[in-house]
Amino acid sequence: MGSCTSKSQISSQPQTSDKPPMKAVTSSNGSASRTRVLAEREYHNVESSTYVLPKDDQEKDRLHGQHYVLKEKFGGNLLKPELTAKLFEKDINVLDVGCGPATWLMDMATEYPDSNFYGVDIADTFPQAIHPRNLKFQVANVLEPLPFDFKFDFIQVRLLTVALRESEWEIAFRNVYNALKPGGIFQVIEGCPLLNTTDPEMIVIRTNMAQLVRKKQQNPDMSSQLEIVMEQENFKVLYKQAIELPMGHGTPADIAAGDSYKEVLLGMAPFMAPQMNVDIEEYKKLVLKAAANMGPTKTTISLWGYLGQRPKDN
Ligand SMILES: C[S@@+](CC[C@H](N)C(=O)[O-])C[C@H]1O[C@@H](n2cnc3c(N)ncnc32)[C@H](O)[C@@H]1O
Repeated sequence: MGSCTSKSQISSQPQTSDKPPMKAVTSSNGSASRTRVLAEREYHNVESSTYVLPKDDQEKDRLHGQHYVLKEKFGGNLLKPELTAKLFEKDINVLDVGCGPATWLMDMATEYPDSNFYGVDIADTFPQAIHPRNLKFQVANVLEPLPFDFKFDFIQVRLLTVALRESEWEIAFRNVYNALKPGGIFQVIEGCPLLNTTDPEMIVIRTNMAQLVRKKQQNPDMSSQLEIVMEQENFKVLYKQAIELPMGHGTPADIAAGDSYKEVLLGMAPFMAPQMNVDIEEYKKLVLKAAANMGPTKTTISLWGYLGQRPKDN
């Protein structure tokens, strides 16, 4: 049973402020208005956003590694190739929304050199200079109409669970729907940020993470229920796949998944430490101890993949 649906982990501990413990300062790298630095990590500076992960080189490296774990676990870059691969036999327009450092896009644009690939992200984390010629990037927020004057054949959203408030998913999916051609395909891959674990320290971290994301009006259970939002926004749901991914035990990809999750927890330090009423260093020590126990306690994370289609006559 995925921890996402377990009510027991939402404890009734008194809630503390989720304000980061350090004063936000702007970076000196020329993107001052887009960046704030907390506990020596760089974060986006979009006031309206609830996204809590960094956007610095360390996070880009993590996302590159995580891409290859997801690719292996879902059997490739496209879910259910029987439904999706045929589309790519023609030259098509493809968009990845919230693309981050764009590893999926770089992989896909190299594999399909005659198609046109686009990436948008609220933060300017995508590669600026070195990328395939058939790949372009733009800063954009999925909560606003997507900034293109043409429609796409295929759009992906991957891993926005700790980026969107519960009420924002329908807005995001509506914007994707409006950017798709009739008959176009929407691929979604999401994970529950709350691990399935018996490790007491990881359970404390998980309980506090559940409280933190709830305070931010996010719903950690969202990733298991997205077909409901898809249907509500007029997509025809073609496919749903659930994966239980071992963390820190099993194959090299499973070990890498555990390392990646440890990095997620460390990246959330400026938000999680005050949530847990500890200082940043103490929080990091707790994370390292809990992460070392993911293997022995056979910890897992729950992931879901979805395919939806904008109806051909709509
Ligand atoms: C966990 S990362 C995933 C990146 C990429 N999709 C992947 O799978 O590797 C989430 C990304 O979503 C971006 N993001 C967060 N909120 C967003 C929004 N409202 N609109 C567009 N991108 C957003 C973040 O800046 C970050 O790059």
